[in-house]
Amino acid sequence: MMNILQGILSLRFSLALCVVLASGFVQPATDVHAQQRTYNPLPLPELIEDLDPSENKAVFRLVARKGETAFFKGKKTETYGYNGNYLGPVIRVRKGEEVDITVSNQLNEPTTVHWHGLRVDGVMDGGPHYPVAAGEMRNVHFRVEQPAATLWYHPHPHGKTGEQVYKGLAGLFLVDDEISETLPLPKEYGVNDIPLIIQDKRFAEDGRLLYRTHMMDIMRGMMGNVFIVNGAVNPRLKVDARNIRFRLVNGSNARDYTIGLSDGSGFSMIASDGGLLEKPVVMHSIVLSPGERAEIVVDFSKYAEGTHIRLVGSGYDILDVVVGKRVPDETAVPQKLAAMAPANASLSERTRLFTLEQFGPQVTINRKVFSLNRVDEKVSLGSTEIWEIRNEGMSHGMMGRARGMMGMRGGMGHGMVHPFHIHGVQFRILQRDGQPPPAHEKGWKDTVLVYPGETVKVLATFLHKGIYVYHCHILEHDDAGMMGTFEVQ
Ligand code: C2O
Ligand code: CU
Ligand code: CU
Repeated sequence: MMNILQGILSLRFSLALCVVLASGFVQPATDVHAQQRTYNPLPLPELIEDLDPSENKAVFRLVARKGETAFFKGKKTETYGYNGNYLGPVIRVRKGEEVDITVSNQLNEPTTVHWHGLRVDGVMDGGPHYPVAAGEMRNVHFRVEQPAATLWYHPHPHGKTGEQVYKGLAGLFLVDDEISETLPLPKEYGVNDIPLIIQDKRFAEDGRLLYRTHMMDIMRGMMGNVFIVNGAVNPRLKVDARNIRFRLVNGSNARDYTIGLSDGSGFSMIASDGGLLEKPVVMHSIVLSPGERAEIVVDFSKYAEGTHIRLVGSGYDILDVVVGKRVPDETAVPQKLAAMAPANASLSERTRLFTLEQFGPQVTINRKVFSLNRVDEKVSLGSTEIWEIRNEGMSHGMMGRARGMMGMRGGMGHGMVHPFHIHGVQFRILQRDGQPPPAHEKGWKDTVLVYPGETVKVLATFLHKGIYVYHCHILEHDDAGMMGTFEVQ
């Protein structure tokens, strides 16, 4: 097989393929998971302390630092965290609030903190153009002007985003508003409103995190064989038999998950990346690619006390839920959530095309590898545009076959899915391959999965000025240059 392949592939690509074939497609790490099937209580990220007592103003301090985490009994893993050893505290703000955040970098390398999903000026956005050097500090401030949502924050230094997120730098950024506060949805943090930051890792025998030890880790992104939620392996959560809201965050570097319940029950999806949907959508599974979020409400009142229901993602266990006693529940999932004008394509002043290309480990957008010194697109402040994103997949037939043999994921057609993310805006999906999006994709989005061969059209209004990036949220693709710069002015 190798001879035939080498014959048909270009020199550059066959070299990469040899490495892959030689290492035999196997996950190189030992399955620590299987050895240690003991459950851990699901950790709940703490709420960050607001250092300003006044209303309508919040002051926070984030320190990116090194730490140590015991994912497995008796084994210490070197990790990174914000204000702690792994992940970061929950930043919770209200729409209209003035927020001031000091970011200090106590790592030995540059970092940034990017507010994924937040509509702020480019200079405050924490993208790769605004690095914070080792030992330095940076102050950012902005006014929160968008609806209630589950957003998140993570580093974005040029070429190092994947590694820093993988080591543990990520946290939740929750926005509340009058609508989220008034609706009868479950909203008691840690009680019936539970965040789940879902990640996958690979570990060495001694507990060390393995990162990019394999050709495939760059080509398809870093995937693990151990699943971690809020920093815990094999997490278990005990809930009362009532409505529970989960805020799902795919904080994995590269893996997408089809998330559902182990008994196949339905649940209500109430929010997408940028906030509440117009109305809840009953679903049995939801696909979340890296960077995407979804809020769902699961009704546990129908289960007998003591039942174990697992939240599963593409066949892997994400969370073991133990159903407790039935308790009175005043929460509900109302049929009307947020008011939302229909996405109106006629507001668009221009359409831009973005093609996502992959040739082995080489990933590009519009045939260009990211450069910090180039502005790829200039957008006028206040304008509305259609961005047409096309995943070229593996259009060359031979390549497609080669990739198929390598076990790469494929949707329609050959090649990989790429989650396309735009900084500084929330957009609406207009079309997937000419068709209107499904109901659960009609709300606010900042990251959209684009399948091989597919074209997705989104509509965005650019209300803030500055330098931003758009990129594939498979972080190894992002680091390899599947990213571009746009300037709003
Ligand atoms: Cu979640 Cu550019 O990032
Ligand atoms: Cu972002
Ligand atoms: Cu990608």
